[in-house]
Amino acid sequence: MGITFNILSIFPEIVECFVNYSLLKRAKEKNLVSFNFLNIRDFCKDKHKQVDDVPYGGGSGMILKPEPVINALSSLTDEKKGKVILLSAKGIKFNQELANKLKDEKYLTIICPRYEGIDERVKNWVDYEISIGDYVIMGGEVGACVLIEAISRLIPGVVGKEESIKYESFQDIFLEYPQYTRPFDFNGLKVPEILLSGHHRNIEKWRKDKSIEITVKNRLDLIIERKRILDRSEIEKIKELILKDYEIYVALLHYPVLNKKGEIVSTAITHMDIHDIARVCRTYGIKKYYIVTPDSEQINYALRVIRHWTEGYGKEFNPSRKEALKVIDVKKYFEEAINDVKSLTKRNLKLVGTSAKIYKKTITFSQLKEIGKNNALLLVFGTGWGLSNEIKDKMDYMLEPIYGLTDFNHLSVRSAVSIIIDRILGF
Ligand SMILES: C[S@@+](CC[C@H](N)C(=O)[O-])C[C@H]1O[C@@H](n2cnc3c(N)ncnc32)[C@H](O)[C@@H]1O
Repeated sequence: MGITFNILSIFPEIVECFVNYSLLKRAKEKNLVSFNFLNIRDFCKDKHKQVDDVPYGGGSGMILKPEPVINALSSLTDEKKGKVILLSAKGIKFNQELANKLKDEKYLTIICPRYEGIDERVKNWVDYEISIGDYVIMGGEVGACVLIEAISRLIPGVVGKEESIKYESFQDIFLEYPQYTRPFDFNGLKVPEILLSGHHRNIEKWRKDKSIEITVKNRLDLIIERKRILDRSEIEKIKELILKDYEIYVALLHYPVLNKKGEIVSTAITHMDIHDIARVCRTYGIKKYYIVTPDSEQINYALRVIRHWTEGYGKEFNPSRKEALKVIDVKKYFEEAINDVKSLTKRNLKLVGTSAKIYKKTITFSQLKEIGKNNALLLVFGTGWGLSNEIKDKMDYMLEPIYGLTDFNHLSVRSAVSIIIDRILGF
């Protein structure tokens, strides 16, 4: 029972010291885990015991040589080696799922490089190249400590109560709920009353809601990864939380936009833009979709279509279309759309232009998602050949382009609206 960790390092003492405290020390005493430290330097065959050398092709720093590492590995039989792990900032990211997978192994061998890394050819002897996070540290030893703790505590008997493992962050889809202990009142900060109620079902619900809230706020990526196992009520709660964070408006400008020659023109409204953009806006909870055109005939055309579906025959024929088209507001000038949003929102308004090009004020989707949590956003889309300079100058930010995978870069504006909205709000 338990795991034997083989640690290959030029500083095995770092890990040796680490495992001599607290629960790992006790786990060792109970034979639930054991350790075998191999100093890579001991496996050098040369007189000077040199473990590193300069990189081929030039570059800074030194590289751990392959021979002593492979000699150290070969000193273990296949059975006593088990799965071989190489710690590397370039590896797959370590997580609870991987810890769970590795906990059932009898032996794990962890290679801890130093310097600028290790000779690439060592990877031919490796089962997993693992990173502990998106940052660079000075050597693999701390990473080995992280792996040892995360894996060992999943072995029955290592942590006191198995319950404490079951309900932790990452064991489930959601991160752990907030925890409190005595005193009840700390510097005026009180423990939530519900936790003192003794009503277990309500406490459980409160904890679940908080778990979802924290995960949506800090790690939506975890939810996205494991979406398929969410139940209906969890999905509804997540949607509600994302919608609470964002207040987004969309404007589709038909003037002032550019034509092929870069001249300022006014473009015609298309029927499909009216319907498709309204439908995507309604689906993602966009507050309003402004169609902006100064042309009275175009305005009348748009209003006729909208009224047909919201008040006329279309309303009975397809009630869901009425629901979508209700989100549209037709404005003569962009300024009117801006003023309308300002009258509706309590937040600061940020104007965000969209374009296939990069500008000084271009921001990424991730930056926009952060900005959107504290501000109302008006996403501005241009028809024709895009927004005029006058409009781009007005923007607080320009959003990075959508990059396709080929040299063809001619999305319809309604496709761009859909992709952009999904990248901001989709999960
Ligand atoms: C200074 S780092 C080398 C970084 C390497 N030049 C790079 O850019 O990826 C030295 C060693 O520390 C370990 N290390 C650094 N960051 C790590 C991380 N995020 N996860 C796991 N190991 C890491 C690796 O073993 C790495 O070979």
